[in-house]
Amino acid sequence: MAHDATPSPATARRSDSLRGTARVPGDKSISHRSFMFGGLASGETRITGLLEGEDVMRTGEAMKAMGARIEKHGGEWIIQGVGNGCLLEPEAPLDFGNAGTGSRLTMGLVGTYDMKTTFVGDASLQSRPMARVLNPLRQMGVQVLDAAPGDRMPLTLRGPKTAAPIEYRVPMASAQVKSAVLLAGLNTPGITTVIEPVMTRDHTEKMLRGFGANLEVETDAEGVRHIRIEGQGKLSGQTIAVPGDPSSAGFPLVAALIVPGSDVTIENVLMNPTRTGLLLTLQEMGGDIQVLNPRNAGGEDVADLRVRGSELKGVTVPGDRAPSMIDEYPVLAVAAAFAEGETLMQNLDELRVKESDRLAAVARGLEANGVDCTEGKDSLAVRGRPGGKGLGGGTVATHLDHRIAMAFLVMGLAAERPVTVDDRAMIATSFPEFMGLMTGLGALID
Ligand code: S3P
Repeated sequence: MAHDATPSPATARRSDSLRGTARVPGDKSISHRSFMFGGLASGETRITGLLEGEDVMRTGEAMKAMGARIEKHGGEWIIQGVGNGCLLEPEAPLDFGNAGTGSRLTMGLVGTYDMKTTFVGDASLQSRPMARVLNPLRQMGVQVLDAAPGDRMPLTLRGPKTAAPIEYRVPMASAQVKSAVLLAGLNTPGITTVIEPVMTRDHTEKMLRGFGANLEVETDAEGVRHIRIEGQGKLSGQTIAVPGDPSSAGFPLVAALIVPGSDVTIENVLMNPTRTGLLLTLQEMGGDIQVLNPRNAGGEDVADLRVRGSELKGVTVPGDRAPSMIDEYPVLAVAAAFAEGETLMQNLDELRVKESDRLAAVARGLEANGVDCTEGKDSLAVRGRPGGKGLGGGTVATHLDHRIAMAFLVMGLAAERPVTVDDRAMIATSFPEFMGLMTGLGALID
């Protein structure tokens, strides 16, 4: 799965109205956790709808390297887990490629084991901060050996004989940090507590309970969540149907909004309220998006989204909405480039430590394509041009970031001139079907 050193550019051109019905691949967050928790739990876990993107496959390989059996039969993944507390020391470094979620959650999962585990990744992952996960793990007794400067990968963890439970207040809005501490708590005697001042995606809490963990969530008068997990309990295999990824759905959604005359339905999209910030914002911008057939599937809300070409207007996105749409700002910025007036996005400091510095990458990409925008320390203001007049004609540096590549390809579908991205390869990390799905709706991308 290593990527060729030769980049593979892609160009999107102004397209006629997009039409049709599509399903986006399974949610990335839930897919990672399905492999991890299934690999850890006793007995069999069966998964349908799994995202078969490179990031998730790396997590699967890591779980196999630590003793889980994972096989695909037809459309179903079947896992025989090792049992909580029974992961084996991997014989070789675990290579997480581009995946922040896979690597950070796995550091939590195995850090408290009395064994050595080495984590490696690609250039993007090796540039990302890991101290946010390593610091609470250190408090639990985990030693960090051979980390690259600034607590970066490659690094090796060595767990204690017995880990110490902690109470940890998560200092930034990060589901990965929250999850890493909770997963470390699974192999720690007693109660590990995570205090979460700003709620982030809650898939770890929901799924761990589904697997049988003794986990309680209490929200205090200030809205701060106190999540307590009892360690060393039994986890049992589950049957999981992974819903469509709302972060991936954002690309055809915005494409259909900005290409005039479009009418697209995206089926079976996860509607967990910790993930619907983009939908809400696009509706506030005047986007014609209907939420159809809302239903519950396997403990999560899902729905079909019907979206039609719309005249958008700029809005100020409330800063406290950032955690529920953190991965969607690149494509929101593209929508804003076609809206009338200014769209202001704030509280974006976490965007600087994603697969790339997404705030800078988006601003540079917009500028290269004639969009008037202002990059602040943790904000972005975009002044749009309805109809895309004068936009496009630029090449965007994607910096090994799948969402930068997909967002700017969406831009090219409605801009006056084509938009080129310097490398399409990373799209396979989260949305391998992107090109086929988009061209199937009528998008001109090659
Ligand atoms: C994720 C959490 C978010 C998000 C990432 C997936 C998860 O990261 O950006 O794509 O599955 O827990 P942070 O925890 O760094 O915000």
